[in-house]
This record gives sequence, C-alpha cells and structure tokens, in this order.
Amino acid sequence: MTRSLFDESLAPYDAPEPIAPGAMLLRGFALEQAEGLIQAVRQVIASAPLRHLITPGGRAMSVCMSNCGVLGWTSSRAGYRYSPTDPLTGQPWPAMPGCLPDLALRAAAEAGFNGFVPDACLINRYAPGARMSLHQDRDESDLSAPIVSVSLGLPAVFLFGGLRRSDRPARWRLSHGDVAVWGGASRLAFHGVAPLADGDCPRLGRQRINLTFRRAG
Ligand code: SIN
Ligand code: FE2
Repeated sequence: MTRSLFDESLAPYDAPEPIAPGAMLLRGFALEQAEGLIQAVRQVIASAPLRHLITPGGRAMSVCMSNCGVLGWTSSRAGYRYSPTDPLTGQPWPAMPGCLPDLALRAAAEAGFNGFVPDACLINRYAPGARMSLHQDRDESDLSAPIVSVSLGLPAVFLFGGLRRSDRPARWRLSHGDVAVWGGASRLAFHGVAPLADGDCPRLGRQRINLTFRRAG
C-alpha cells in the first residue's frame, strides 16, 4: 500500500487549522462519512457522467467533472457558467444526495460560517498528473457564502494564494477525509491543485475525488 494514506486516515478530526484570514483546513473532518460520500458520488456520476470540459481557450481540462444540485458548474468555448441542466444529457443535474449538503453545512459551521446551504456541488476527479491551475471561484452570485471543499482518495497539494494572481501560493497537503473551507476575506483567493502524484489508495485506487460545495445562485 502506498505510504501514509492509511496512517493519515487514522487521525481523527481535532480542530480547524487557519491557513489565511477566513480560510481553514479541517483535517479528517469527513473521514467518518467518507464511505457514504463515495457511494453518493458513484450514484451521481451514473446519471451525470464525469467528463473533460473544454476551457474558453479551447483546451481540454485534465480534471474530469460532473455536478449535483440545483446548479452545476460547466465550461465550454463560450465561457464558464452555472447551468440547471447537464449540457451532456440535457437533463437537470442529479439532486445532491442528503449526506453531501449535511457535511457541507457542518464543515462550514465548524469554520465559522453558519447556515451554509449549498445549491451546487462540483465533482472533480483527478487521475495521476491531473492538475488545476490557479483560479478564483467567482462565477457565484452570492460571494458572502464560503466554499467548502472535500478531498477523497489520493492526497494532493492544494495551492492557496492571495487575492492577486501574482501572490505566491502556500502549499497544503490535502488527504482523504480532509475539508478546506474559505470565505470572508479569502473568498476570492486564488487557489489550485498541483499535478497529482501517482499512488494507490485503499478505497479509491489511483485517483482523487474532490467535492466543492458552493452557493451559486
Ligand atoms: C476547485 O478549486 O474547484 C477544486 C479544488 C480541489 O480539487 O481541491
Ligand atoms: Fe476553485
């Protein structure tokens, strides 16, 4: 088995770890629910398959994505947008299985953001080598709500910078069951994910799944 994923998953959640004003890591916060979250993801992607979206610049993203919830984030040559329907199937996105918004609400509250009711859950699937370049989450109409981001599977290096693209990002390891929450003064912080290192984790094999909850509409 690859290195420390198993060991890390033995560490129970302790307390929020601040990484910037309004931003914190909740290490191990989702560990107990991880199995249910994985089942929920499988259920969603059975009807809204993961796919490589095309950036407005015309390149295929290395991360595969899908969504559940009232709104889903998509990208195409026309730009980024939230849509109530899946452009691939023409159908509404699958509803969020209940365990997802429950976890997001609790994680947000733990980080100091009460009453977080997400209407969008983006599912990001990273294979080894996949990455997400530095960006801001700013397609949401309500920027008073935080972002809640749950990591499952292989560990990743999360890049968390400042409000300018040129701010040098700090690097944080995100492991299976970790949750990152950012809002307030960090809501528009630039962030990204370094190319995923290969590995093999007990539950998800050679992949990382990230769930990003937002109040989009
Ligand atoms: C994102 O910014 O949408 C994803 C971040 C992550 O995969 O941890
Ligand atoms: Fe993001």
